[in-house]
Amino acid sequence: MGIDLLTVFYIAASVTFILGLKMLSNPATARRGNLIAAGGMTLAIIGTIFLYKNEGSPLHNLGWIFLGIFIGGLIGTMTARKVKMTAMPEMVSLFNGMGGACAALISLLEFEHLFEANRSEGLSSFSGLVQPGFYLTIVTGVIIGTVSFAGSIIAWGKLSGNVKDIVFRGQHLTNILFLALVLAAAIYTYQTDLDEAHIYFFITAGLAFFYGILFVLPIGGADMPVVISLLNSFTGVAAACGGFLYNNKAMLTGGILVGSAGTLLTIMMCKAMNRSLLNVLIGSFGASASSSAENMEQGSYKSISLSDAAMVMAYSQKVLIVPGYGLAVAQAQYACHELEKLLTEKGVDVKYAIHPVAGRMPGHMNVLLAEADVSYDLLLEMEQANEEFPATDVVLVLGANDVVNPAAKKDPSSPIYGMPILDVELAKTCIVNKRSMKPGYAGIENALFFQPRTSMLFGDAKKVLQNLIGEIRVL
Ligand code: TAP
Repeated sequence: MGIDLLTVFYIAASVTFILGLKMLSNPATARRGNLIAAGGMTLAIIGTIFLYKNEGSPLHNLGWIFLGIFIGGLIGTMTARKVKMTAMPEMVSLFNGMGGACAALISLLEFEHLFEANRSEGLSSFSGLVQPGFYLTIVTGVIIGTVSFAGSIIAWGKLSGNVKDIVFRGQHLTNILFLALVLAAAIYTYQTDLDEAHIYFFITAGLAFFYGILFVLPIGGADMPVVISLLNSFTGVAAACGGFLYNNKAMLTGGILVGSAGTLLTIMMCKAMNRSLLNVLIGSFGASASSSAENMEQGSYKSISLSDAAMVMAYSQKVLIVPGYGLAVAQAQYACHELEKLLTEKGVDVKYAIHPVAGRMPGHMNVLLAEADVSYDLLLEMEQANEEFPATDVVLVLGANDVVNPAAKKDPSSPIYGMPILDVELAKTCIVNKRSMKPGYAGIENALFFQPRTSMLFGDAKKVLQNLIGEIRVL
């Protein structure tokens, strides 16, 4: 009876995960979707603690379990409350690494159980007692979980600026060799005698740890969010292995959902940047980007004053706002919405042009603008926006750079060549707000800033927008 009720809990939890994921695809329902899935996870945890029976006996160590939940919950809540929107990818990466570590630890523990069982049976090797499929699940969990843990920690270090991209000759060959060593150690563990297998299983995990580090070290620049999403899908697969091991349906479904959603997201991001996954993984974006930036010749640009910018916008018919990472840094979404309302009151047709990889994570701009209550109807996707730019009087670029860089279309030597961009240069006037002439995330120059129709409006996005609003009010 207890097990039956637990199965019901697990199925209910799995349904909430699927519902939650579906609701996350729309800003209007995302918050609720997140809460529903979290509720389902709570249900699965409560069910496991109170209803799970291992060979007839309930879970022991409840005190330790609740202490762990309390400490983990406290750290998670405090970190999530404090994290800035711009540091979200770092946090996602760190939490993902913890998920990978958990999945790897589950597999390590199960291996230890098997090891003890084999020893008490007096068998000399694993293959005598353990089915290949079962061993495969354990070893896959430990390899993928460890790679995800080590890779995510390096990704976290890179995003927070503490770890530099490291590229060296023969790097990809070294990585492939390391991967081959990991697989060889995993196979050897299964075949060899028991005592040696015990050592080799840990060697497998250790090699996987180094492979995880080596795998992420050369990847840099604009490719990091793609790698984080890929590592996220790895963690999902490793967790699904844990679900198999414990015959835990909620863990299995959750792992498969994370694995497949992460894979889909990785593919979609690669598509939005017009790059193949292989190119992301071995392209060493950061390294080529910086050399290209050094070679670029700078032209001259012109600045526009606040009052002139206010005048141009207030007397135009159609304005398209292009938000980018800088808008998130400045937390200028509220001021941006205020400017949009003010211009609309003055009879200007105002909309937003959203690039799919603007910012630092998928949907970054949508979430940011939804936070300030910007109507979803005003957001144009890249294809729609590109059709509207030629009929637009003013494009106001707010803290965006790479996603409006014409080099993506015109310069085959540019590392972002081929990436779809917002064609802001087609508008009659383009006003670019940023703090300096520094490059964006990809580390490359932007020819847009030097074009005759472009004017630079320097300053922090929030301050500039507040001042623009003040200027337009007195017109
Ligand atoms: P970026 O190219 O990073 O440019 C942001 C610009 O904002 C910078 O040039 C910076 O210039 C400016 N800025 C920073 N703080 C500011 C502030 N307080 N006020 C005003 N401006 C400020 O951003 P983007 O155009 O949104 O491009 C996103 C990048 O991330 C692309 O390279 C994209 O490929 C990459 N990427 C994103 C994703 C996802 S999923 N979103 C995935 C993969 C890659 P100053 O320092 O001069 O102010």
